Amino acid sequence: MVRAQNSSNALNNRLAAHANYAKFEINDWIIPKLEIKEDDQVLDIACGNGKQLIPISEAINENGSVTGLDISKDLLNEIESNVEREKVFLKNGSMEYIDSEFKNAQFDLILCCFGLYYSKNYKKTINDIYDKLKEGGKCFVCGPIKRNNKELTDIHETFEKLPEEYNMHNNFMESKALPYFETLFGEVKIDIFENPVTFPSKDELLRYWKSYTLFEKEEQNKFEKVIEDIFVKENKFITKKVVMGISARK
Ligand SMILES: C[S@@+](CC[C@H](N)C(=O)[O-])C[C@H]1O[C@@H](n2cnc3c(N)ncnc32)[C@H](O)[C@@H]1O
Repeated sequence: MVRAQNSSNALNNRLAAHANYAKFEINDWIIPKLEIKEDDQVLDIACGNGKQLIPISEAINENGSVTGLDISKDLLNEIESNVEREKVFLKNGSMEYIDSEFKNAQFDLILCCFGLYYSKNYKKTINDIYDKLKEGGKCFVCGPIKRNNKELTDIHETFEKLPEEYNMHNNFMESKALPYFETLFGEVKIDIFENPVTFPSKDELLRYWKSYTLFEKEEQNKFEKVIEDIFVKENKFITKKVVMGISARK
């Protein structure tokens, strides 16, 4: 059974592990790809607690704006104290209804980082992205691909098959999102980002695992037993995040 680890605690734990133990900072890869202009009107879908939205708000001037859409009110609340509110709009809503959430708005840039695979109707979400972009506007989406975190999922597979829903999420970028973007947009470009994450202790790896999509309380003992052996032998554990970015222009 897959549990959506979407709570603000889980997201913050994962972000903290990446900040502490990943070789590269993901925003150093994402933000330049957005090619933000100071007066851009930006929509950040599934903005979470502002990982991308906050630096975007700092890159635009008073003529620009950034609107964050997320289904979690708790995560949106975390953004409020960290941004200049005149340029930032936060909308608690769902990416399945972008058309009705933003009836009259048009954007220069729309992004969705680590979120599109949560859409219950990804084709409609991508259609809405296309419709809400100005002519010549740019879109960037990113998410994991199949070999993402393979080292970690290999551990899971020592005691249980990967759930269908997990495989669907991890295949989503290459098998669903990319082909659909290519049917709609004139210009589509992909980039792959690889980022090794080195966990220095069993406890840190376990903390990450508990905030990960595959975590199941009932399997925790089995997971701990496998990682115990790994740390006795290696004294560290490295898993590689592998992410696809799709840049498209209308
Ligand atoms: C992995 S987080 C990514 C957050 C942020 N973009 C980042 O990179 O840190 C996924 C986000 O998608 C949001 N989400 C999940 N389903 C959603 C939906 N149907 N509509 C809007 N947001 C959704 C969650 O609340 C969460 O903030």
